[in-house]
Amino acid sequence: MKQYLQHKVFACISECADELGLETYVIGGFVRDNILQRKEPKDIDIVCVGSGIDLAKKVAHKLHGKPSVQVFKNFGTAMVRHEDIELEFVGARKESYRKESRKPTVENGTLEDDQNRRDFTINTLAICLNKDRYGELIDPFGGLKDLENGIIKTPLEPNITYSDDPLRMMRAIRFATQLDFTIEKSSMDALKQNAKRLSIISQERIVDELNKIIGSKTPAKGFKLLFNTELLHEFFPEFVALHGVDVINGKKHKDNFYHTLEVLENLSVHSNDLWLRWAALLHDIAKPDTKRFEKGHGWTFHGHEFIGAKMVPKIFKRLKLPLNDKMKFVQKLVLLHLRPIVLSKDIVSDSAIRRLLFDAGEDLESLMLLCEADITSKNEQKVKRYLNNFKVVRQKLKDIEERDQIRNWQPPITGELIMKTFNLKPSKIVGDLKNQIREAILDGLIPNEYDKAYTFMLEKAKELGLHKAVK
Ligand code: CTP
Repeated sequence: MKQYLQHKVFACISECADELGLETYVIGGFVRDNILQRKEPKDIDIVCVGSGIDLAKKVAHKLHGKPSVQVFKNFGTAMVRHEDIELEFVGARKESYRKESRKPTVENGTLEDDQNRRDFTINTLAICLNKDRYGELIDPFGGLKDLENGIIKTPLEPNITYSDDPLRMMRAIRFATQLDFTIEKSSMDALKQNAKRLSIISQERIVDELNKIIGSKTPAKGFKLLFNTELLHEFFPEFVALHGVDVINGKKHKDNFYHTLEVLENLSVHSNDLWLRWAALLHDIAKPDTKRFEKGHGWTFHGHEFIGAKMVPKIFKRLKLPLNDKMKFVQKLVLLHLRPIVLSKDIVSDSAIRRLLFDAGEDLESLMLLCEADITSKNEQKVKRYLNNFKVVRQKLKDIEERDQIRNWQPPITGELIMKTFNLKPSKIVGDLKNQIREAILDGLIPNEYDKAYTFMLEKAKELGLHKAVK
């Protein structure tokens, strides 16, 4: 362990703590991640028995020549930034909670009180920084053993820990997913029992944890835990609705909950992009709403890509995800996710390919990754055949793109030119005319050239009764 305390900030904190006569420890995520050799943590939590703010000021003075620290009065904490590290100082505390809030009443306490109030045994590990006990590990709850065995366990009775701060229920599943740990049984029971308590947690905090689950190596594990504990039901009912299989006349459809998670896992092998992963999560989100059993056809989900795309902004808004270009990207992929499959047919027109190039634009590669991940058959031969089809589609897209350069294409006739030519103000008719020219080029009716497009514009304008402006 001592090797992790080599960084010069620890020597500095040690000296300052001794000068102030404060019992001081490094605690929490830093200790956990170092023992796991997971990553080099940039956030270091320091706890001392006494004033964390005084210690922070002394450390800042020693490191930077002035005692300037960022104090968070409400939390009794102070932060010192050093190079790319954030040192967070706090006085050891005892917390007691009330039922309706996650804001505790705080009193000064001992190290043990402070360890008691923490979420998981693996996050209670503390290492002493005072010179005479430097490097000593304080582990009253067997956190080291739990780290070795991969166990998520609360230091106190789980119902108390989770009910005190229900965000910890999301954190339990997040750590289990990120670290590939098991949540011990009494904790799992407490999660189920306390799931409704999530209602006092802000949506922003919930989605922050959710995004960490989605961004992990095996996000499906997290979603299954969220579903089994019914935490998912509290904030994402649309996703829960994907679960289940209906049978009519002996015909059943696939379980879209597990299918979606498989798609997410497939995709996660190839991409860490959080928003592409969100597109995988939402690509079939409208299947429950569009599900029909049609005689002669069996189960159908007509239009689920359109309805799904419409649902995206609503879901993003409620979950407090950004309503910016990230949302637009997810929406676009949900809308287009069936398009490449159609292009794998033997006979497919160049115009259909040009249209997809145009509609997908710079997101074409993401769309292809999503479609490839969407192949989840158990039949290996089938998977191979479908993947091969997509290879063909990729080749067709490449050929047409090389020839016609549609992806970042702008039609040769602009709205301004239309307005100038026919002396029009910005209006619907300008848009209509522009669309007709674009569609004609994408359909291959006219070549992608200015002169031909100009002539076409004059013809269409004449049909609409428009006259060229007289100079
Ligand atoms: N903690 C807690 N309950 C919470 C949040 C945090 O008990 N709801 C405690 C844990 O001991 C945790 C420490 O505060 O280790 C620091 O919290 P945070 O920085 O949020 O998490 P880390 O454990 O450092 O992990 P990560 O950086 O991966 O979020």
